Amino acid sequence: MPFMKNKIQPDKNVTLISIMEPLELIEKYYPKDSKAYHFLIKHSELVTQKALQIAARVMDMNPDIAFIRSASMLHDIGIFLTDDPRLGCFGDKPYLAHGYLGRELLEKEGLEKYALVCERHVGVGISLDDIVKNKLPLPQRDMLPITLEEKIICFADKFYSKAKHSLLSEKTVPQIRGEIAPYGPEKLNQFDEWLVLFKEPCSEASASASVADS
Ligand SMILES: [Fe+2]
Repeated sequence: MPFMKNKIQPDKNVTLISIMEPLELIEKYYPKDSKAYHFLIKHSELVTQKALQIAARVMDMNPDIAFIRSASMLHDIGIFLTDDPRLGCFGDKPYLAHGYLGRELLEKEGLEKYALVCERHVGVGISLDDIVKNKLPLPQRDMLPITLEEKIICFADKFYSKAKHSLLSEKTVPQIRGEIAPYGPEKLNQFDEWLVLFKEPCSEASASASVADS
């Protein structure tokens, strides 16, 4: 039946997320009065706000705003499965694993596209090569942001920590660059590329700093 080829398949991700809002999904795994919920929600709200500001600067690139809004809220949903008592998380995996653990969780929820944001937002992305060379406790595959929305959320996330005393304050670009620098020039270059691509204020100063570093 040739007409079947043109039949529009419903987007599973869109359907599910419209039924279940990000907060409902988070509350399925995090008690509302828990420390982990507090840190996760505050951090995720700030990252969402930042990601939407970035998206607004690059509307010519046609970012999916609705997706960014929901996916930013869900990007760290895996943290409760890791061991970080400062965040009220008492799982048995290292914190670094929260990205792929979030992916597994959202895949079980049928949210495959959102799941990839979880896996691909850690640092400026983690390559298979990084994992093998540094013997990281992660599945051996590339975990690099690919789509525009994945890149925007990964970039926005770098501006906020979940540390108790700096949870609410946005980091400066030099601060972030200082944190990324120990992971090597490739990582710093990636961040600097995004500063320019996403028209982050003071990107010119950062670009000069990058040249001076090299
Ligand atoms: Fe985050």
